[in-house]
Amino acid sequence: MATVTRLHINGRATALEADGERILLSVLRDDLGLTGCKPGCGEGQCGACTILVDGKPVRSCRVSAGSVGESEIRTIEGLEKEGRLHPVQQAFLDADALQCGYCTCGMIMSAVALLEEHPQPTEEQLLTAMDGNICRCGVYNNIRAAVKRASE
Ligand code: FES
Repeated sequence: MATVTRLHINGRATALEADGERILLSVLRDDLGLTGCKPGCGEGQCGACTILVDGKPVRSCRVSAGSVGESEIRTIEGLEKEGRLHPVQQAFLDADALQCGYCTCGMIMSAVALLEEHPQPTEEQLLTAMDGNICRCGVYNNIRAAVKRASE
């Protein structure tokens, strides 16, 4: 796969030089310093590495840098606007929806994708959307409360 020289990230065309076969998670973290997305299982199972690609949640450990083309990538670093947290970020804080925090960025990105598609999700939509994100501290009740809070 060819060298990747540009990615569209958080509303900007970002220049870089990376082997297109490299895992996107690694390029985001190691080349671009976007360390919100976390390496976890590396197998698409835990959700810690979740980012948005054209608005859809994607496990960045499972896609190559060369496969995203001109798609718009959003990471947690792009959520804050003019010094203000995104409503989902604020809701996670307000609902005390984190303990160690390792899963939080992935959780928030999945929640953002859900609420952009379904601003007032049903319980089933919420559970389905967040199902692939694992929290090893087990604060699922607070996480669900945060997503609900952000939808109000
Ligand atoms: Fe990508 Fe677990 S590290 S899903």
